[in-house]
Amino acid sequence: MDGNGRWARERGEDRIFGHASGVESVRSAVSAAGELGVGYLTLYAFSTENWSRPQEEINALMELLVKSLAGEVAELIRKGVRLRSTGDISALPDACIAGLRDVEQKTAHCEGLNLILALSYSGRWELTEAVRRIVRSGMPAEDIDEHAVRQHLSMPDVPDPELLIRTSGEQRLSNFLLWQLAYSELHFTPVMWPDFREDHFKAAILEFRGRERRFGRTGDQVSTEAQDIKQGITK
Ligand code: FPP
Repeated sequence: MDGNGRWARERGEDRIFGHASGVESVRSAVSAAGELGVGYLTLYAFSTENWSRPQEEINALMELLVKSLAGEVAELIRKGVRLRSTGDISALPDACIAGLRDVEQKTAHCEGLNLILALSYSGRWELTEAVRRIVRSGMPAEDIDEHAVRQHLSMPDVPDPELLIRTSGEQRLSNFLLWQLAYSELHFTPVMWPDFREDHFKAAILEFRGRERRFGRTGDQVSTEAQDIKQGITK
């Protein structure tokens, strides 16, 4: 969700105004994802690196989070959205932790979109935590394979993202879901996050649906499979 600060500055406002305006784009994305039948939507709301921002901006972001969680819970339940979080949640202020836990608990029964907030999160943090858990479990080195690593990530039950969307013209992963993005499609758009609304989200998904995903196979293998699927012979 990149570009809040620049979007605000372009309007002669301070960065916090950009973050506050970005909350409406979060609403739009959640609503569009629900409509399109997306199973999981992970929002990179606060990275490990974001702790180095000015304290005033950090406080404003945390307040925005607490306010948004409390204000949206009824709507999330109405839409069947289950809220979860990933990251070093213990590093967040107490009010954020309490707000998150409250909404997670109130939406735990929801069976529609899984909305995951990445907070105080970075891919390297998650992988480091996974290594720690594996070592603590006493697993013999020869038993550690890709499956074992995945099982020790923060949310082993959550499938890898099919699509990563990054706004504001930046074309980097910035330490997001480093393990899980290995085969994801990437969508970069110059649109700043506060301007990124339902139509942009839907257009990104529709464009993605038209792409060919090869997972390391040749184009010929993919077309043969597509042909087979068309003929109803699912391999
Ligand atoms: C990146 O833009 C954005 C953030 C660090 C915060 C994103 C948070 C929100 C949209 C609001 C709260 C979220 C929820 C889930 C309610 P930037 O500040 O890096 O922008 P810049 O690159 O233009 O400086």
